[in-house]
Amino acid sequence: MLKVMSIFGTRPEAIKMAPLVKALNSDSEIDSVVCVTAQHRDMLDQVLRLFDIKPRYDLDVMKEKQTLSSITMSVLKGLDDILEKAKPDLILVHGDTTTTFAGALSAFYKKIKVGHVEAGLRSHDKWFPYPEEINRRLTGVLTDLHFAPTKTAKGNLLSEGVDEGDIFITGNTVIDAMKYTVKDGYIFREERLNKLYYDKKRVIVVTAHRRENWGKPLEDICNALRNIAVDFKDTYLIYPVHKNPVVRDTVYNILDGIDNVLLLDPLDTDEMHNLLAKCYMVMTDSGGLQEEVPALGKPVLVLRDVTERPEAVEAGTVKIIGTDSESLYNEAKLLLENKEEYNKMANAVNPYGDGNASERILKAIKYSFGVLKERPEEYKGGR
Ligand code: UD1
Ligand code: UDP
Repeated sequence: MLKVMSIFGTRPEAIKMAPLVKALNSDSEIDSVVCVTAQHRDMLDQVLRLFDIKPRYDLDVMKEKQTLSSITMSVLKGLDDILEKAKPDLILVHGDTTTTFAGALSAFYKKIKVGHVEAGLRSHDKWFPYPEEINRRLTGVLTDLHFAPTKTAKGNLLSEGVDEGDIFITGNTVIDAMKYTVKDGYIFREERLNKLYYDKKRVIVVTAHRRENWGKPLEDICNALRNIAVDFKDTYLIYPVHKNPVVRDTVYNILDGIDNVLLLDPLDTDEMHNLLAKCYMVMTDSGGLQEEVPALGKPVLVLRDVTERPEAVEAGTVKIIGTDSESLYNEAKLLLENKEEYNKMANAVNPYGDGNASERILKAIKYSFGVLKERPEEYKGGR
């Protein structure tokens, strides 16, 4: 049997690997094993519980205020023995975190093949997002099978000289995950979210946590959010705050105690996705939200200067606005006051997938190892 080990460690990797792990687990021709690094602990466990995934291996590497080097070293050290013992035919990593890069490097050291899920995204700027752009490029160099979510991502890989036969356009597995989480008539476990009058108060969902925004940019973001909340009393800002103490200190210092701002602990992903489905708009520096929210037909203002996800920007539902307080305030004001501008952005478009990415990746793996004879059909939607 073909032995496939999925390695992941943070919340977004877990969300996007969950549907693929389920597909691998239910295939009788594959021995599917999960290894978590637990680069995130609580935020990873939330996802494992929701999708009922039971890892065979758990490196439990998370430390408070961990550094990039310390995560890399712990993951390399932890995976060494596990890969030696388990001897998978293929390991799968996802996206652009330190777990992704260190996981791929560990496999390379053991001469084990690497499959990269969500391959080929590029901002073409070494420092933004930091360190994700470089994690993704380094992982690409170590990868044997590139699962590119879109045509644009495939184009990036081709321009770097990757062999076309090793690239499969699959769509993004996050859309598969949303098929599982988003439900009509969803009732929140967080009672305060059931009590919001989504038709009377306009709910703005906010998340911001990126390393390159720590310090002044995050302060500027929070000051702008405070001004929006004060000036637009008919809005309700909901901000589930990342567990990182660096982020929490800034956010709570500036935004705690304002009537129409609700600061929450990280939400379970089904709660988050259903909140996104009901809200008026989203302001975020997250990568994943730039893919999820367009599919739900809500405008997204991205609190960064560049993105590695240009597809929804081209489709018109995502706007890159940076972190300057004044422009952030003005862009939000425009969407709150100008219905025409709002309607232009509030279109459900889905350049990222059709919910079948996991099936395509599963077939591509089987094809690459000679279990399936025919190369699988690629995802044809999107950009
Ligand atoms: C990491 C990824 C980033 C991804 C983000 C998703 C890297 C370098 N960064 O950034 O690409 O966008 O995850 O959220 O791989 N913490 C907890 N509990 C948790 C999770 C984190 O307490 O469940 C705290 C710890 O103090 C930890 C800190 O957050 O040291 C930072 O975690 P880390 O994974 O290093 O960075 P993120 O900013 O979460
Ligand atoms: N998310 C979640 N709970 C929250 C905030 C976000 O489940 O309280 C989900 C969100 O829907 C998306 C993912 O986490 O699927 C994004 O992760 P994050 O912002 O941590 O990382 P990034 O996307 O920036 O890498």
